[in-house]
Amino acid sequence: MKTLWTNARLATMAAVGTPEFVDNGALVTDGPLLQWADSAAGLPADLARNCAATIDLGGALVTPGLIDCHTHLVYGGSRAREFELRLQGASYADIAQAGGGIRSTVAATRAASEAQLLEQAGARLGHLLRDGVTTVEIKSGYGLTLQDEARMLRVARRLGQTYAVEVRTTYLGAHALPPEYAGQPDDYIDAVCAWLPQLHAQGLVDAVDAFCETVGFTHSQVERVFQSAQALGLPVKLHAEQLSNQHGSALAARFGALSCDHLEYLDQAGVAALAASGTVAVLLPGAYYFLKETHQPPVAELRAAGVPIALSTDHNPGTSPILSIQLMLNMACVLFGLTPWEALRGITANAARALGLGATHGVLAKGMRADFVVWDATEPSELAYAIGRSACRRVVYGGVERTA
Ligand code: NIG
Ligand code: FE
Repeated sequence: MKTLWTNARLATMAAVGTPEFVDNGALVTDGPLLQWADSAAGLPADLARNCAATIDLGGALVTPGLIDCHTHLVYGGSRAREFELRLQGASYADIAQAGGGIRSTVAATRAASEAQLLEQAGARLGHLLRDGVTTVEIKSGYGLTLQDEARMLRVARRLGQTYAVEVRTTYLGAHALPPEYAGQPDDYIDAVCAWLPQLHAQGLVDAVDAFCETVGFTHSQVERVFQSAQALGLPVKLHAEQLSNQHGSALAARFGALSCDHLEYLDQAGVAALAASGTVAVLLPGAYYFLKETHQPPVAELRAAGVPIALSTDHNPGTSPILSIQLMLNMACVLFGLTPWEALRGITANAARALGLGATHGVLAKGMRADFVVWDATEPSELAYAIGRSACRRVVYGGVERTA
């Protein structure tokens, strides 16, 4: 069934560069895809005639459905107590070295049932959906055994079957060293590599990620994980240069990574490597804010080199317990100096590319997914400006209006 949506101020995100709107725009949805996303004046009469329903959007801003391309949405427990310790002066690395941090979430995740993980992650997902998210990436990385990583990824897949949202799963076995492998990181990486084909065979893995950091894994350990991914034809991503410059981005670029994420300590050589490989730079202003970081990612250099910039909530219990992607627009503008238009591109077209979905998602155009958001706004700056007020009015996912 075809539906015609008229009187839209379309931000299609189709053109790279300066802001471009189509006023008096129209959309035609045909099942899960768009048949038209352009000016109403150019709409072929027979296409309009074939629409079973017409909906007037009253001149509202319409953007592609939002894409949260980096989350750790499935986990057990809370790290509010750790937050208090950090407020008293302890650093993220101090807490991690003392056995807290990621490892405390690993313990809570292992202790939770699959049903509990599903229920808790579903409640979190609800917040993202109300903000206009239509695609979300979810990483494992708090299980750190074959069974527990599989459980996390199964829960992520179930979320995509239960809610009107597309879920992309990422295997992050190389997130932290589990206690049973203390002092044996290379043996643990052997296990991470051995589990991957088994998880992939169960259809649980869309991409592979790792945490390249002094409190994570080394360059050569990450390289082994990437080789295992490459052997299976799986794309890679990397948590890179978050707390220090480990030159992880150059490594990831060699493997044609979809994205490198965080990047506060990225240097010029890293920028050049990302530019050469077409890798997306995913900036995570929520984690930067929450950790009270002061070292900014090299936005001007990324821009000058033409590296696509995406944004995400990085929702996780330790460094970014944030469930609003609209807030990321504000933080990216205020903290990192993006323009509202660049920020909007970061949660639509460029976020799609960070997930390898650039050909089908993140842009409103004929043949692309009929995922879009109708805003109580006419300018992207209004979305980046408001804090604590969701301007999301209507969400269409796969051609169907989402009701809750
Ligand atoms: O993206 N940097 C590593 N991973 C997460 C933090 C996870 C945690 O602290 O639980 C991140 O910031
Ligand atoms: Fe992360």
